[in-house]
Amino acid sequence: MSARPRRASLVTAAAAIVALAAACGGGGSSASSPLPTGAHAHDQTLLAGRKVFSAECATCHGSGGQGGVGPTFNDGRLLRDFPNPSDQVTFVSQGKGVMPAFAGVLTPTQLAEVVAYERKVLSKRR
Ligand code: HEC
Repeated sequence: MSARPRRASLVTAAAAIVALAAACGGGGSSASSPLPTGAHAHDQTLLAGRKVFSAECATCHGSGGQGGVGPTFNDGRLLRDFPNPSDQVTFVSQGKGVMPAFAGVLTPTQLAEVVAYERKVLSKRR
């Protein structure tokens, strides 16, 4: 007699967990920005840069850097336009036109992290 209600509540709990997982996994740009892989998989700079990118850049540049309001990063353009990473840090700090200036928004460390993430993870041709 007592087995039935217990099973029912287990099913309810399982359903709630599934719903919760779906709510967390769906939508949010942070969920879909690519993780660093291979030798870079545990690179803390790139993992931190991914968080900054998801929060501050993905809305315009796409969660995977595929572009949108801002240009794509997936075609290798960053390495061509900014052969020196410090020039890219300067660009992101100062902004240009629609691209906001992030100098007062991100710390120098965060700027370096997001630039590294864009160059090493998003800038691959795919
Ligand atoms: C409001 C939309 C918007 C946001 C948010 C945004 N960008 Fe941009 N970004 C642009 C636009 C538009 C351009 C093109 C600017 C131009 O050349 O006139 C651009 C250009 C760039 C470029 C230069 C690309 C190239 O090869 O010339 C870089 C690098 C860049 N953004 C990085 C970032 C980073 C890093 C962030 C987050 C910290 C970010 N952007 C957030 C809109 C945005």
